[in-house]
Amino acid sequence: MPEAVTKAMPELAEIQTVIDRFARNGMRGALLPLLHALQEEFGFVDPQAVPLIAEALNLSRAEVHGVVSFYPDFREQAPARHVVKLCRAESCQSRGSAAIEAELVRRLGIGMGDARPDGQVALEPIYCLGLCAIGPNALVDERPVAGIDRAAVERIVAEVTA
Ligand code: FES
Repeated sequence: MPEAVTKAMPELAEIQTVIDRFARNGMRGALLPLLHALQEEFGFVDPQAVPLIAEALNLSRAEVHGVVSFYPDFREQAPARHVVKLCRAESCQSRGSAAIEAELVRRLGIGMGDARPDGQVALEPIYCLGLCAIGPNALVDERPVAGIDRAAVERIVAEVTA
């Protein structure tokens, strides 16, 4: 089983260290590479980094926040320890993914697109894993799980809540 992404909340000094790498090099157009570096380092772009980035790159906070919130690749919250991504594309829908989603929502106690407040698990939509003929399908911590039925939901819930 692959390790779930689990990173401690970053300290301001750690964030500043990453920012300094880009600001010191005087890179033009450094904002996107810097945001990607923060996301890679910490798993998300901590909102407390926004004013530090703005100052380092001589941008407004609104400009930095606008870019972070515009690109869906950037997370603004720490990632959950486990992520279940359920396919919502057409073939999986025709094979019963709506009922599987309802069961996951009920069993995990979170809505689609939400994470548990304790950071244990998040449930996210995904659109086609290329396994259409054997759906409904999901990725559980990036591991494909195909042909999900109620028994598979039980196993998934047990795994991600352990
Ligand atoms: S539609 Fe779900 S894997 Fe293709």
